[in-house]
Amino acid sequence: MGITVFDQEHQRLATLMGQVHATLLEKHDRALALTLIESLIQETRAHFDHEERVMEELGFHEREAHAAEHATLIQEAQVQLQMFRSGTFSALAMPNFLKAWLIPHMQVTDRKYAACLRRHGFR
Ligand SMILES: [Fe+2]
Ligand SMILES: [Fe+2]
Repeated sequence: MGITVFDQEHQRLATLMGQVHATLLEKHDRALALTLIESLIQETRAHFDHEERVMEELGFHEREAHAAEHATLIQEAQVQLQMFRSGTFSALAMPNFLKAWLIPHMQVTDRKYAACLRRHGFR
């Protein structure tokens, strides 16, 4: 999205998602994957809080809709995590869910506030 601090956070989340993928499909280690998914959700939450703080500070006009999307994403991930924990999820289902989960938000919704951040001097 062209804002260094958030690009780095997005990169970190993408790395974690890649690790979950590799852990399930190559190492077949569900216990490690579970720990990674928990970290992923925790770090995603911290990232969302960070974005919401900045949007609030700058008075970004779509911040409420953006924050609502964050809340929905966290809720969805928790449902999937619960299913994964109870074993009703195949090893392939989780990576597939993750691929479709956060990336569209990063590519579409996060881009909408990038211009606003740049106007306020973010690089
Ligand atoms: Fe983001
Ligand atoms: Fe966001």
